[in-house]
Amino acid sequence: MRAPRKKPTRKIASVITARLNGHFSLQMQADGSITAFVDGHSVNLGQLSTAAMDRARNLTDGLPLASFAGKSAIAREVDVLVHRLARHGLLEYRLSFPRDEQVLVVIEPQVPEYWPQRARLGEGDSIVLSRFANLRRRGNEMVLESPRSGALFRIGDPAIAATLAALSRPQKISRLRRHVTFFNLDLFELLLDSQFLLKLDANSGDGLRVNEGDGNLVLWDFHDLVFHTRSTEGRQANPVGSTFAYASVVSPLPAVRPPWPGKKIDLRKFFTSDPISPFLKLLRDRHSVRDFDDEHPVTLAELARFLDTTARVLSEWKSDANFEGGPEITYSTRPYPSAGSAYELELYLTVSNCEGLARGLYHYDAGGHALVAIGASAQQLQALLAAAEFAMDAPGPPQVLITIAARFGRISWKYSSIAYSLILKDVGSMIQTFYLTATDMGLGSCAIGTSNIDLFAKMTGLEFHVEGPVGQFALGRGKKLLVAN
Ligand SMILES: Cc1cc2nc3c(=O)[nH]c(=O)nc-3n(C[C@H](O)[C@H](O)[C@H](O)COP(=O)(O)O)c2cc1C
Repeated sequence: MRAPRKKPTRKIASVITARLNGHFSLQMQADGSITAFVDGHSVNLGQLSTAAMDRARNLTDGLPLASFAGKSAIAREVDVLVHRLARHGLLEYRLSFPRDEQVLVVIEPQVPEYWPQRARLGEGDSIVLSRFANLRRRGNEMVLESPRSGALFRIGDPAIAATLAALSRPQKISRLRRHVTFFNLDLFELLLDSQFLLKLDANSGDGLRVNEGDGNLVLWDFHDLVFHTRSTEGRQANPVGSTFAYASVVSPLPAVRPPWPGKKIDLRKFFTSDPISPFLKLLRDRHSVRDFDDEHPVTLAELARFLDTTARVLSEWKSDANFEGGPEITYSTRPYPSAGSAYELELYLTVSNCEGLARGLYHYDAGGHALVAIGASAQQLQALLAAAEFAMDAPGPPQVLITIAARFGRISWKYSSIAYSLILKDVGSMIQTFYLTATDMGLGSCAIGTSNIDLFAKMTGLEFHVEGPVGQFALGRGKKLLVAN
């Protein structure tokens, strides 16, 4: 009897191409200059030779990365253009079989630096899906996302989802190759590089929570890290802020909730005309100020008093963790309340205009009541201040921008499931303390709802999951309003 012939395996190579993502229009002029028009803004992308321009035209349908990886002058020109497009978020990438035009995945970058790379895998390597990877429906597509990843993968073949499910437990490449319907090493290597997959070593055990990342990552619950990266700027390419996304479908809710229909107890009869207390006056006087007097900026002495009043460590103490064999934990007392007395919030001051203090980034050492300079570049300072100015729709930058950052592990070491929500509640109590203190001192201030966690990570060198922005606050001397007679 003849032995059955081995089923031929598919030898056609998959190819990674770069492609314009269609969120803009590209104009190529006769002199070789290229401009992209995005949301009404123009982005100058430089100049190309005629030959390079001809090659770059293929970006509309897809240009293989390998076609401009060489050292020729044209390849180098195209490479510069493609990287520029990538940094402006104008590209997506496809992994496909060009022969039958089958697209396996479309990769949508979420951070400007994303570039598709393959982390090499061998037959003996074991891989497992990251516990942060999540597959969901978006419109009519299936997307694979992770707060750890710099990119989102649009899944082009349902069989990929089945393979991802198989990767919920560690799998050796050689075994995976034999046991799943869909196998493509290029895809696994791209997913590994993008942190959707982890490679396990001999000491990694079963590839569960403690094997992924450092101790700081171990403490993050899945939903908290997704919430953090999706509710801030810097690690996602989705629109953020007042986009009025469903205004045509859903009407706005009224400013004041309509009363319940039950029996009403009128409280207005308790009104007294007693003189109002200083605290009530402070509450009533508090309001947001977005326009600052740059000829009379806030002074270093005022800043010192503001920080002393609002955030300084007042005392320190220790207590045992309330579980058997738990370590002794250090605590502090500060002027605002904090969940579990964790005091996980740190203040980073971006100073634009403060009398007696140079422009720059500073950390407030709340224990020592001191400012410590951090070497951030002029460009980064400008970007952070410009974003705050934009968020306030203000005529200029704040004199001092306070970025409230959280040391996430300080609170998630103890609390499961509610850690991130507690942090945001702590930010709320801190912001009200800031507002009232600024009002009391005659300064102007305004809370800011957005923060860029990627920019902060670059400015400080702190990884986004270790310590990062959860709130921002603008402070300065408010411009005096001219009162008309
Ligand atoms: C959490 C929070 C986020 C805010 N974000 C912004 C913001 O991004 N830009 C802005 O101009 N104002 C922001 N504000 C200020 C509000 O717009 C302001 O408090 C509100 O309009 C009420 O006005 P008042 O503060 O003058 O009483 C924020 C306030 C809070 C509490």
